[in-house]
Amino acid sequence: MSTYYVTTPIYYINDVPHLGSAYTTVVCDVLKRYRALRGDDAFFLTGTDEHGLKIQRAAEERGIAPKALADDVSRVFEETWPKLGCEPNDFIRTSSERHKRGVQELWRRIAANGDIYLGHYEGLYCVGCEGYYTEKELEQPGNRCPIHKAPAEVVKEESYFFRLASYGERLLKFYEDHPSFVEPEGRMNEVKSFVTAGLQDLSVSRTTFDWGVPVPGDPKHVMYVWFDALSNYWTALQDPESQAKYWPASVHVVGKDILRFHAIYWPAFLMAAGFSDDELPRKVLAHGFLTYGGHKMSKSLRNTVSPVALAEAVSPTVGVDVVRYCLMRSISFGQDGDFSIDDVLGRYGTDLGNTFGNLLHRIHPFAGETLAVANDGPLETGLREAAKNAARAAAEAFDASSPTRALEAIWVGLMAANAYVDKVAPWALRKQGDETRVSAVVTAMAEVLEAYTVMVAPVMPKVAALMREQLGLAAVAPVVGRDAWPFEVPTRREGSRLIKGEPVFPRHDKDVAAAIKQQFTPPKAEITPVTMVTEKPTAVAGAPALGAPTAPETKPETAPETKPEITYEDFAAIDLRVGVVVQAERIPRKDRLLSLKVDVGEAEPRSIIAGIALAYAPEEVLGKRIAVLCNLAPRDFGKGLISHGMLMAASHGTVLKLVAVPDELPPGSPIK
Ligand code: MSP
Repeated sequence: MSTYYVTTPIYYINDVPHLGSAYTTVVCDVLKRYRALRGDDAFFLTGTDEHGLKIQRAAEERGIAPKALADDVSRVFEETWPKLGCEPNDFIRTSSERHKRGVQELWRRIAANGDIYLGHYEGLYCVGCEGYYTEKELEQPGNRCPIHKAPAEVVKEESYFFRLASYGERLLKFYEDHPSFVEPEGRMNEVKSFVTAGLQDLSVSRTTFDWGVPVPGDPKHVMYVWFDALSNYWTALQDPESQAKYWPASVHVVGKDILRFHAIYWPAFLMAAGFSDDELPRKVLAHGFLTYGGHKMSKSLRNTVSPVALAEAVSPTVGVDVVRYCLMRSISFGQDGDFSIDDVLGRYGTDLGNTFGNLLHRIHPFAGETLAVANDGPLETGLREAAKNAARAAAEAFDASSPTRALEAIWVGLMAANAYVDKVAPWALRKQGDETRVSAVVTAMAEVLEAYTVMVAPVMPKVAALMREQLGLAAVAPVVGRDAWPFEVPTRREGSRLIKGEPVFPRHDKDVAAAIKQQFTPPKAEITPVTMVTEKPTAVAGAPALGAPTAPETKPETAPETKPEITYEDFAAIDLRVGVVVQAERIPRKDRLLSLKVDVGEAEPRSIIAGIALAYAPEEVLGKRIAVLCNLAPRDFGKGLISHGMLMAASHGTVLKLVAVPDELPPGSPIK
């Protein structure tokens, strides 16, 4: 018996699950279900990453304790995954006692090995990544994080260091001995080059905030959030039985943004804690991003889609499986892929309805009749061969962690099966009274369909169960030690019957399809670089109270007031330019204002005080490319706060949006 241990990254709790994070989780669930069908004792771990400055700040912004935020959001994650058909075996929280105990134990082991020492750290830290960067790695000007586009913060403090630099050679040797440790292959090369370029010791503790796991023996330090978080894969298996059974992880599935942490830091931490190469994780599998309207789906771009809402809209019975299918089928594993509702509706109608569902539908007329033993002619042999080929190719693809290719292979088989039915036309055979052939055809169809229900079960467990019900079969139930993969087409028991049921993928009527399309088409203003405004831009330094923004797709309720005509010269006197926000902070006790530094193409960024704090969190405006009025007389907000310019924004009711400008325009470009 083999075991299989698959993990998702643990999710930050400054966001709730969206289709992008669902992608990682569904991949893991699919791999686990596949391995379980192959007879493995499969264990799937997920959880939440609750510590660190990012979370402490998010809690402060909401005015609640970090633990309260953690409890609330972690519950949402734990409750969402089953709604997407995901069945994790365990859910680990980094704020749990079992995790803290485990991570402190790991720290002690590394410290006892002499690989942790006390020093001072001064460097550039991106709170969004919870990671340090060198100036070279950041985007200039402004030391901006390549992922979050926000300026990295200068951090200077006493810190414990991990001797990462001394693990470079051992890591390279490990990669050499385990060439598929990172997949896809190209990503392995990236990791190797990074290590070859030379590693530096890693700061692994912080003293400027306290929302974290205290360092054993020196509790004024909390552990670096990535040390804390990565350890979850080990701390979740603290009882000796599961430790012995599942450790080391078979595969850590991660987004490409967090590959370095998993492929370099994590094995190095484990090596330092005394794990041998054989006790290190077997594989880190890096996938691409789900984009929406061309941008990474993420909270900061406000372009997320709720997978649960999408599933419910597409089909109340099998919507979850449809979403799982589209995620696995449309995003080629490892690549970025764009979510589009047209793709979902198209695949629902074509791949699922016309190809898979239709195959079952075509044997409905024979429901209730007794199936005979197989009595194949050459066409049935071809039908079975196609199913066997599909099973073999799909297994190879799942083994290579490519659900996309697995589904492609299965659909080749399903299309061949439909072509077979077109050719043999069992309804015509019945009319001709050729009952021997009818029986042979229907039996062969039922048998291959049974095989296909097993093949799709890892991706669409609910659909598989519903179809099997109509085939008179129980749901696929994996048994440890028994390989249930349909390398051979199963044989029906003589005398078994088909049951006529409802279509699994009923057609959407036109109005329903249009409504779903409208609901899930990205609102342009939310995700395109240029914000479309229907009103004249409003200057927003010290703007009036504004509520939280919602999708502003409606027209202004009242026409904007017409102002007296101005000459072109009046207009030309306005110095309006493209600016990039390079720093953004809240101002204590001024809850409507943000203090910004905006690069408008001058030697130094300008200080601008903007009344946008109720509409935008600081991290949401960082890196934004906006329109700035530069020749307005400076305005004094008191307490040394002087604004040297104004941002342009449009408002509608309680909604306020900054006027965005296209990415290609450098800071300082005149707007005229
Ligand atoms: N907490 C860290 C992981 C620690 S693991 C020891 C973290 N969390 S995260 O919530 O930001 O991201 C979790 C996973 O979700 C990552 O693998 C990330 O790549 C993935 N995704 C988040 N948005 C995504 C898309 N739009 N598309 C695909 N995956 C996405 O990083």
